[in-house]
Amino acid sequence: MLIRNKRGWELPDSAATSEAVFNDRRRLLKGLAAGPMLAGPILAGLGHLAPAFAADADPLAGLYPARRNARYPIDRPLTDEKFSTTYNNFYEFGPDKSISREAQALKVRPWAIKIDGLVEKPMTIDFDDLAKRMSLEERVYRHRCVEGWSMTVPWTGFPMAALVDLARPLGSARYVRMETFMDPQTAPEQRKFFYPWPYVEGLTIAEARNELSFLVTGLYGKTAPKQNGAPLRLAAPWKYGFKSIKSIVRFEFAEKRPVSYWEKLQASEYGFWANVNPEVPHPRWSQASERILGTDERRPTLMWNGYGEFVADLYKGLEKERLFA
Ligand code: MTE
Repeated sequence: MLIRNKRGWELPDSAATSEAVFNDRRRLLKGLAAGPMLAGPILAGLGHLAPAFAADADPLAGLYPARRNARYPIDRPLTDEKFSTTYNNFYEFGPDKSISREAQALKVRPWAIKIDGLVEKPMTIDFDDLAKRMSLEERVYRHRCVEGWSMTVPWTGFPMAALVDLARPLGSARYVRMETFMDPQTAPEQRKFFYPWPYVEGLTIAEARNELSFLVTGLYGKTAPKQNGAPLRLAAPWKYGFKSIKSIVRFEFAEKRPVSYWEKLQASEYGFWANVNPEVPHPRWSQASERILGTDERRPTLMWNGYGEFVADLYKGLEKERLFA
Protein backbone atom coordinates (compact mmCIF):
# COMPACT_ATOMS: atom_id res chain seq x y z
CA MET A 1 0.00 0.00 0.00
CA LEU A 2 1.36 3.41 -0.91
CA ILE A 3 2.56 5.69 1.86
CA ARG A 4 1.34 9.11 0.95
CA ASN A 5 3.55 12.18 1.44
CA LYS A 6 0.74 14.66 1.32
CA ARG A 7 -2.73 14.14 2.62
CA GLY A 8 -5.84 15.54 1.02
CA TRP A 9 -7.24 16.81 4.27
CA GLU A 10 -4.21 19.00 4.82
CA LEU A 11 -5.23 21.03 1.79
CA PRO A 12 -7.85 23.75 1.88
CA ASP A 13 -11.32 22.28 1.71
CA SER A 14 -11.94 23.56 -1.79
CA ALA A 15 -8.85 21.77 -3.06
CA ALA A 16 -9.49 18.61 -1.10
CA THR A 17 -12.61 17.85 -3.04
CA SER A 18 -11.25 18.71 -6.41
CA GLU A 19 -7.56 18.39 -7.25
CA ALA A 20 -6.48 16.10 -4.44
CA VAL A 21 -9.39 13.77 -4.92
CA PHE A 22 -8.92 13.82 -8.64
CA ASN A 23 -5.22 13.05 -8.38
CA ASP A 24 -5.85 10.18 -6.03
CA ARG A 25 -8.26 8.70 -8.54
CA ARG A 26 -5.47 8.78 -11.09
CA ARG A 27 -3.25 6.86 -8.73
CA LEU A 28 -5.96 4.33 -8.06
CA LEU A 29 -6.20 3.72 -11.75
CA LYS A 30 -2.54 2.90 -11.78
CA GLY A 31 -3.22 -0.40 -10.15
CA LEU A 32 -4.24 0.44 -6.60
CA ALA A 33 -0.84 1.99 -6.07
CA ALA A 34 -2.39 4.79 -4.07
CA GLY A 35 -4.68 2.64 -2.03
CA PRO A 36 -8.30 2.57 -2.96
CA MET A 37 -10.57 5.51 -2.56
CA LEU A 38 -13.83 6.91 -3.67
CA ALA A 39 -12.96 9.94 -5.63
CA GLY A 40 -13.44 11.88 -8.78
CA PRO A 41 -13.41 15.31 -10.30
CA ILE A 42 -16.28 17.39 -9.03
CA LEU A 43 -18.43 18.48 -11.93
CA ALA A 44 -15.55 17.99 -14.29
CA GLY A 45 -16.67 16.65 -17.59
CA LEU A 46 -20.31 17.58 -17.11
CA GLY A 47 -20.22 20.00 -20.00
CA HIS A 48 -21.38 17.28 -22.37
CA LEU A 49 -24.38 16.25 -20.31
CA ALA A 50 -26.13 13.32 -21.89
CA PRO A 51 -29.89 13.21 -21.90
CA ALA A 52 -31.57 11.12 -19.21
CA PHE A 53 -31.63 7.45 -20.19
CA ALA A 54 -34.81 5.60 -20.81
CA ALA A 55 -35.19 2.29 -19.01
CA ASP A 56 -35.96 -0.95 -20.87
CA ALA A 57 -39.63 -1.64 -21.54
CA ASP A 58 -40.94 -1.82 -18.04
CA PRO A 59 -43.96 -3.82 -16.92
CA LEU A 60 -44.01 -1.76 -13.74
CA ALA A 61 -44.12 1.63 -15.48
CA GLY A 62 -47.74 2.08 -14.37
CA LEU A 63 -46.61 2.23 -10.72
CA TYR A 64 -44.98 5.63 -11.31
CA PRO A 65 -45.17 8.34 -10.22
CA ALA A 66 -45.90 7.20 -6.68
CA ARG A 67 -47.39 9.37 -3.97
CA ARG A 68 -44.80 11.51 -2.17
CA ASN A 69 -44.34 10.87 1.54
CA ALA A 70 -44.22 14.35 3.10
CA ARG A 71 -42.67 13.13 6.35
CA TYR A 72 -39.16 13.87 5.08
CA PRO A 73 -39.00 17.58 4.23
CA ILE A 74 -35.94 18.94 2.53
CA ASP A 75 -33.98 22.20 2.95
CA ARG A 76 -32.73 22.61 -0.62
CA PRO A 77 -33.91 22.30 -4.23
CA LEU A 78 -33.98 18.97 -6.04
CA THR A 79 -30.89 18.21 -8.08
CA ASP A 80 -31.61 18.44 -11.76
CA GLU A 81 -32.24 14.95 -13.10
CA LYS A 82 -29.66 15.42 -15.83
CA PHE A 83 -26.95 15.68 -13.17
CA SER A 84 -28.10 12.79 -10.96
CA THR A 85 -28.34 10.48 -13.94
CA THR A 86 -25.04 11.36 -15.58
CA TYR A 87 -22.70 11.89 -12.62
CA ASN A 88 -22.60 8.48 -11.01
CA ASN A 89 -20.46 6.17 -8.97
CA PHE A 90 -20.92 2.63 -10.29
CA TYR A 91 -17.45 1.17 -10.27
CA GLU A 92 -18.50 -2.04 -11.96
CA PHE A 93 -18.79 0.02 -15.15
CA GLY A 94 -15.74 2.24 -14.74
CA PRO A 95 -13.80 4.40 -12.33
CA ASP A 96 -15.13 7.69 -13.68
CA LYS A 97 -18.41 9.43 -13.04
CA SER A 98 -19.53 9.23 -16.67
CA ILE A 99 -20.56 5.57 -16.81
CA SER A 100 -24.20 6.16 -17.72
CA ARG A 101 -23.79 4.86 -21.26
CA GLU A 102 -21.73 1.84 -20.24
CA ALA A 103 -24.30 0.91 -17.60
CA GLN A 104 -26.96 0.44 -20.28
CA ALA A 105 -25.39 -2.98 -20.93
CA LEU A 106 -26.88 -4.24 -17.67
CA LYS A 107 -29.87 -6.53 -18.24
CA VAL A 108 -32.38 -5.89 -15.50
CA ARG A 109 -35.03 -8.42 -16.56
CA PRO A 110 -35.42 -11.08 -15.43
CA TRP A 111 -33.81 -10.15 -12.11
CA ALA A 112 -33.76 -12.71 -9.32
CA ILE A 113 -33.25 -11.59 -5.74
CA LYS A 114 -32.15 -14.10 -3.16
CA ILE A 115 -33.20 -13.68 0.47
CA ASP A 116 -31.36 -16.19 2.60
CA GLY A 117 -29.11 -16.87 5.56
CA LEU A 118 -30.71 -16.73 9.01
CA VAL A 119 -34.32 -16.46 7.88
CA GLU A 120 -37.36 -18.62 8.49
CA LYS A 121 -37.80 -19.49 4.85
CA PRO A 122 -35.07 -18.67 2.34
CA MET A 123 -36.47 -17.61 -1.02
CA THR A 124 -35.61 -16.31 -4.45
CA ILE A 125 -38.04 -13.72 -5.72
CA ASP A 126 -38.26 -11.99 -9.06
CA PHE A 127 -37.80 -8.22 -8.81
CA ASP A 128 -41.11 -7.46 -10.57
CA ASP A 129 -42.99 -9.73 -8.15
CA LEU A 130 -41.26 -8.13 -5.18
CA ALA A 131 -42.02 -4.58 -6.34
CA LYS A 132 -45.67 -5.48 -6.97
CA ARG A 133 -46.00 -6.84 -3.43
CA MET A 134 -44.73 -3.61 -1.93
CA SER A 135 -46.47 -0.30 -1.64
CA LEU A 136 -44.35 2.22 -3.54
CA GLU A 137 -43.94 5.81 -2.38
CA GLU A 138 -41.72 8.75 -3.23
CA ARG A 139 -39.25 10.26 -0.75
CA VAL A 140 -36.94 13.20 -1.30
CA TYR A 141 -33.64 12.57 0.47
CA ARG A 142 -30.30 14.32 0.65
CA HIS A 143 -27.59 12.03 -0.75
CA ARG A 144 -24.06 12.81 0.55
CA CYS A 145 -21.07 11.11 -1.02
CA VAL A 146 -17.96 10.57 1.10
CA GLU A 147 -16.07 12.45 -1.65
CA GLY A 148 -17.68 15.73 -0.56
CA TRP A 149 -20.50 16.32 -3.03
CA SER A 150 -24.22 15.95 -2.52
CA MET A 151 -27.47 15.69 -4.42
CA THR A 152 -31.13 15.87 -3.50
CA VAL A 153 -33.04 13.08 -5.16
CA PRO A 154 -36.71 12.09 -5.31
CA TRP A 155 -36.45 8.32 -4.93
CA THR A 156 -39.34 5.93 -5.39
CA GLY A 157 -39.35 2.67 -3.51
CA PHE A 158 -40.48 0.97 -0.34
CA PRO A 159 -39.23 0.83 3.25
CA MET A 160 -36.53 -1.75 3.78
CA ALA A 161 -38.44 -2.80 6.92
CA ALA A 162 -41.01 -4.37 4.59
CA LEU A 163 -38.33 -6.58 3.07
CA VAL A 164 -37.08 -7.55 6.54
CA ASP A 165 -40.66 -8.49 7.46
CA LEU A 166 -40.94 -10.57 4.30
CA ALA A 167 -37.66 -12.33 5.12
CA ARG A 168 -38.62 -13.12 8.72
CA PRO A 169 -35.09 -13.25 10.15
CA LEU A 170 -34.32 -15.65 12.98
CA GLY A 171 -33.55 -14.25 16.42
CA SER A 172 -29.86 -14.95 15.87
CA ALA A 173 -29.65 -12.62 12.82
CA ARG A 174 -27.97 -9.29 13.60
CA TYR A 175 -26.95 -7.98 10.16
CA VAL A 176 -28.18 -7.83 6.59
CA ARG A 177 -25.46 -8.36 4.03
CA MET A 178 -26.33 -7.07 0.55
CA GLU A 179 -24.64 -8.01 -2.67
CA THR A 180 -24.61 -6.51 -6.19
CA PHE A 181 -24.76 -8.64 -9.36
CA MET A 182 -21.56 -10.31 -10.55
CA ASP A 183 -21.25 -10.40 -14.32
CA PRO A 184 -17.79 -9.62 -15.68
CA GLN A 185 -19.03 -9.94 -19.26
CA THR A 186 -21.37 -7.01 -18.73
CA ALA A 187 -19.40 -4.99 -16.21
CA PRO A 188 -15.83 -4.53 -17.45
CA GLU A 189 -14.30 -3.54 -14.12
CA GLN A 190 -15.36 -6.88 -12.64
CA ARG A 191 -12.76 -8.47 -14.89
CA LYS A 192 -10.07 -6.84 -12.76
CA PHE A 193 -9.23 -9.52 -10.27
CA PHE A 194 -7.59 -7.22 -7.73
CA TYR A 195 -10.92 -5.67 -6.71
CA PRO A 196 -13.02 -7.65 -4.23
CA TRP A 197 -16.13 -8.05 -6.42
CA PRO A 198 -19.01 -8.33 -6.04
CA TYR A 199 -19.81 -5.04 -4.34
CA VAL A 200 -21.04 -5.80 -0.83
CA GLU A 201 -22.60 -3.63 1.84
CA GLY A 202 -24.28 -4.26 5.14
CA LEU A 203 -26.55 -2.81 7.79
CA THR A 204 -27.54 -3.98 11.24
CA ILE A 205 -31.08 -5.31 11.37
CA ALA A 206 -32.01 -2.28 13.50
CA GLU A 207 -30.66 0.02 10.77
CA ALA A 208 -32.45 -1.93 8.07
CA ARG A 209 -35.69 -1.63 10.02
CA ASN A 210 -35.18 2.09 10.64
CA GLU A 211 -37.87 4.06 8.86
CA LEU A 212 -35.33 5.93 6.70
CA SER A 213 -33.84 2.80 5.09
CA PHE A 214 -35.43 2.74 1.68
CA LEU A 215 -35.18 0.26 -1.17
CA VAL A 216 -35.27 2.23 -4.37
CA THR A 217 -36.94 1.14 -7.60
CA GLY A 218 -37.24 4.52 -9.28
CA LEU A 219 -36.31 8.18 -9.32
CA TYR A 220 -37.87 11.40 -10.57
CA GLY A 221 -41.23 9.65 -10.81
CA LYS A 222 -39.97 6.93 -13.17
CA THR A 223 -38.24 3.58 -13.15
CA ALA A 224 -34.64 3.89 -11.97
CA PRO A 225 -32.06 4.24 -14.73
CA LYS A 226 -29.44 1.53 -14.78
CA GLN A 227 -26.62 3.88 -13.86
CA ASN A 228 -28.45 4.73 -10.64
CA GLY A 229 -28.69 1.10 -9.58
CA ALA A 230 -31.69 -0.47 -11.31
CA PRO A 231 -33.66 -2.46 -10.61
CA LEU A 232 -33.21 -2.25 -6.83
CA ARG A 233 -30.81 -0.23 -4.69
CA LEU A 234 -30.59 1.09 -1.18
CA ALA A 235 -30.95 4.70 -0.02
CA ALA A 236 -29.65 5.16 3.54
CA PRO A 237 -29.44 8.95 3.62
CA TRP A 238 -27.75 9.42 6.99
CA LYS A 239 -24.76 7.43 5.77
CA TYR A 240 -22.17 8.23 3.12
CA GLY A 241 -23.38 7.27 -0.32
CA PHE A 242 -21.12 4.24 -0.69
CA LYS A 243 -23.38 2.37 1.76
CA SER A 244 -26.26 2.74 -0.71
CA ILE A 245 -25.50 -0.36 -2.73
CA LYS A 246 -26.85 -0.59 -6.29
CA SER A 247 -28.41 -3.39 -8.37
CA ILE A 248 -28.87 -5.76 -5.43
CA VAL A 249 -29.21 -9.50 -6.07
CA ARG A 250 -28.99 -10.85 -2.55
CA PHE A 251 -30.00 -10.04 1.02
CA GLU A 252 -28.31 -12.41 3.40
CA PHE A 253 -29.21 -12.29 7.09
CA ALA A 254 -26.25 -13.10 9.29
CA GLU A 255 -24.96 -13.17 12.81
CA LYS A 256 -21.53 -11.89 11.83
CA ARG A 257 -20.90 -8.34 10.66
CA PRO A 258 -20.31 -8.31 6.90
CA VAL A 259 -17.19 -6.75 5.46
CA SER A 260 -18.07 -4.32 2.72
CA TYR A 261 -16.35 -3.81 -0.62
CA TRP A 262 -14.67 -0.57 0.44
CA GLU A 263 -13.73 -1.88 3.84
CA LYS A 264 -12.00 -4.82 2.19
CA LEU A 265 -10.08 -2.45 -0.06
CA GLN A 266 -9.08 0.10 2.56
CA ALA A 267 -10.33 -0.52 6.10
CA SER A 268 -8.38 2.44 7.46
CA GLU A 269 -10.57 4.79 5.41
CA TYR A 270 -13.93 3.05 5.00
CA GLY A 271 -15.61 1.26 7.86
CA PHE A 272 -18.88 -0.50 8.49
CA TRP A 273 -20.91 2.37 9.93
CA ALA A 274 -20.03 5.31 7.65
CA ASN A 275 -22.47 7.75 9.25
CA VAL A 276 -22.18 11.33 8.03
CA ASN A 277 -20.40 13.61 10.49
CA PRO A 278 -18.91 16.96 9.45
CA GLU A 279 -16.58 16.93 12.44
CA VAL A 280 -14.82 13.70 11.57
CA PRO A 281 -12.61 14.17 8.53
CA HIS A 282 -11.85 11.43 6.10
CA PRO A 283 -8.15 10.60 6.64
CA ARG A 284 -7.37 12.59 3.51
CA TRP A 285 -9.91 15.43 3.37
CA SER A 286 -12.38 17.39 5.43
CA GLN A 287 -16.04 16.41 5.64
CA ALA A 288 -17.09 19.80 7.01
CA SER A 289 -18.86 20.95 3.87
CA GLU A 290 -20.18 19.65 0.60
CA ARG A 291 -20.51 20.86 -2.94
CA ILE A 292 -24.10 20.83 -4.16
CA LEU A 293 -23.97 19.00 -7.43
CA GLY A 294 -25.16 20.99 -10.42
CA THR A 295 -24.50 24.34 -8.72
CA ASP A 296 -21.53 26.41 -7.54
CA GLU A 297 -22.85 26.25 -4.02
CA ARG A 298 -21.03 24.77 -1.06
CA ARG A 299 -22.93 24.13 2.18
CA PRO A 300 -21.92 23.00 5.63
CA THR A 301 -22.50 19.28 6.00
CA LEU A 302 -25.09 18.34 8.61
CA MET A 303 -24.56 15.80 11.37
CA TRP A 304 -26.20 12.50 10.32
CA ASN A 305 -26.74 14.36 7.04
CA GLY A 306 -29.59 16.13 8.83
CA TYR A 307 -31.42 12.94 9.84
CA GLY A 308 -30.42 12.74 13.52
CA GLU A 309 -33.98 12.78 14.81
CA PHE A 310 -34.59 9.49 13.00
CA VAL A 311 -31.32 7.65 13.57
CA ALA A 312 -29.19 9.01 16.42
CA ASP A 313 -30.78 6.59 18.91
CA LEU A 314 -29.56 3.61 16.88
CA TYR A 315 -26.02 4.33 18.04
CA LYS A 316 -26.51 4.76 21.79
CA GLY A 317 -24.02 2.53 23.56
CA LEU A 318 -21.88 2.20 20.43
CA GLU A 319 -19.80 5.31 21.04
CA LYS A 320 -16.57 3.31 21.08
CA GLU A 321 -17.12 2.11 17.51
CA ARG A 322 -15.84 3.99 14.43
CA LEU A 323 -19.30 5.31 13.73
CA PHE A 324 -18.25 8.03 11.30
CA ALA A 325 -15.89 6.29 8.91
N1 MTE B 1 -23.13 0.24 -5.66
C1 MTE B 1 -22.41 -0.53 -6.49
N2 MTE B 1 -22.82 -1.78 -6.74
N3 MTE B 1 -21.27 -0.09 -7.08
C2 MTE B 1 -20.79 1.17 -6.81
O1 MTE B 1 -19.73 1.54 -7.36
N4 MTE B 1 -21.09 3.26 -5.59
C3 MTE B 1 -21.59 3.81 -4.33
C4 MTE B 1 -23.10 3.64 -4.20
N5 MTE B 1 -23.48 2.29 -4.57
C5 MTE B 1 -21.52 2.01 -5.93
C6 MTE B 1 -22.72 1.51 -5.38
C7 MTE B 1 -21.25 5.22 -4.17
S1 MTE B 1 -19.64 5.54 -3.83
C8 MTE B 1 -22.17 6.20 -4.24
S2 MTE B 1 -21.78 7.81 -3.82
C9 MTE B 1 -23.53 5.94 -4.70
O2 MTE B 1 -23.74 4.58 -5.05
C10 MTE B 1 -23.79 6.80 -5.92
O3 MTE B 1 -25.12 6.71 -6.32
P1 MTE B 1 -25.62 7.57 -7.57
O4 MTE B 1 -24.73 7.29 -8.71
O5 MTE B 1 -27.04 7.17 -7.81
O6 MTE B 1 -25.53 9.02 -7.13
